[in-house]
Amino acid sequence: MKTEFARRLLDLPRSSFATTVSRIDQLVKAGEDVVNLCQGNPDLPTPPHIVEALRREVLDPATHRYPAFSGLLELKAAVAQWYATHHQVHLDPESEVAILFGAKAGLVEISQCLLNPGDVCLMPDPAFPDYWSGVVLARARMHAMPLLRENGFLPDYSALDPATCDRAKLMFLNYPNNPTSVTAPPEFYEETVRFAARNQVVVASDFAYAALGFDGRAPCSFLQTDGAMEVGVEFISLSKMFNMAGWRIGAVVGNPDVVAAINLLQEHYYVSLPSFIQRAAAVALTGPQDCVEELARTYERRRDVFVAGVRDAGWHIDLPQSIFAWLPVPGGGSSSAFADDLLTRAKVAVAPGRWFGEHGEGYVRVSLLAPEDRLKEAVIRLADLRNGTHKDPDHD
Ligand SMILES: Cc1ncc(COP(=O)(O)O)c(C=O)c1O
Repeated sequence: MKTEFARRLLDLPRSSFATTVSRIDQLVKAGEDVVNLCQGNPDLPTPPHIVEALRREVLDPATHRYPAFSGLLELKAAVAQWYATHHQVHLDPESEVAILFGAKAGLVEISQCLLNPGDVCLMPDPAFPDYWSGVVLARARMHAMPLLRENGFLPDYSALDPATCDRAKLMFLNYPNNPTSVTAPPEFYEETVRFAARNQVVVASDFAYAALGFDGRAPCSFLQTDGAMEVGVEFISLSKMFNMAGWRIGAVVGNPDVVAAINLLQEHYYVSLPSFIQRAAAVALTGPQDCVEELARTYERRRDVFVAGVRDAGWHIDLPQSIFAWLPVPGGGSSSAFADDLLTRAKVAVAPGRWFGEHGEGYVRVSLLAPEDRLKEAVIRLADLRNGTHKDPDHD
């Protein structure tokens, strides 16, 4: 039988990460010493008190039964408590919090909840590619909002034409930003609320890198802005905050109509996450937070090591405000060609900026989720390649 698949499936973007990860695996199997700075996959373990909570909870037979539809109230209350403590945002756990299989799931689901075929979604460019998937599944259209260095990698709403704004129903934002590693100032969020209210656009603020602030500055939440709850929702993730990427847990909070829509869609896909994971996640959010502070300091030290090394090599780089470095390609060449060259010749894996959109071209994204000695090693290899002092083993 020749199976014919649905157009929406065939149109889904292919993950460039998967291809590179399998190439890295092959190189490692062949005995190569690859410094892998390609993905944003936390290298450190989940703090022990959270693992201990999971161990305790999984022994309770109540957690072996189907969990409550749309998640445990105990976890929703923990999310609300986290927002109140860290961002002075007050949420009703029942109606303004939904539990997600990682932020990723919700970031795909929101487009299916809000977009009809042909509707416009305002998409930052560059952006985390998972946003595109939901828009494709909804058969909607993306309109790029270029994130340019001269605008602090923030979208310029005044550059959008009124007809596009009229058709737009949803907009993604993400600060601290992946991949450009900048944060957004409160004034930008104030402007966003005005823009969204004027144009009736729902704002989906991806706050996956909340809590990992550098240089004594905590990232601000979109929901801290007056009027934000009226126009949008925010996604948080426990993946990076508590090194829980493998646990697959996050939440979406804010506008109750949008939260209800996501819960409704999820009711058709899942019966929520395992209760033992939800209970341990509640412990993570309400328990001691010094582990988060310690993690942020570790990443900040790594950033400093990497940036100092790169700058010593005469390479200009803006100071990252998050766990990625957004490194200009020497000579402004193709990011894919440069990343390919780096992996082939210097055995350093980075993500080409083009993977994140047209305006990511000219940069590569370097993940700082690796120990300091590996980052130092990467800097040596990067500098050698850039300065032409790299020795190709094949040609020695
Ligand atoms: C910007 C951004 N949003 C969301 C996610 C996904 O988070 P989660 O692990 O909770 O699905 C990531 C993961 O790397 C990310 O970089």
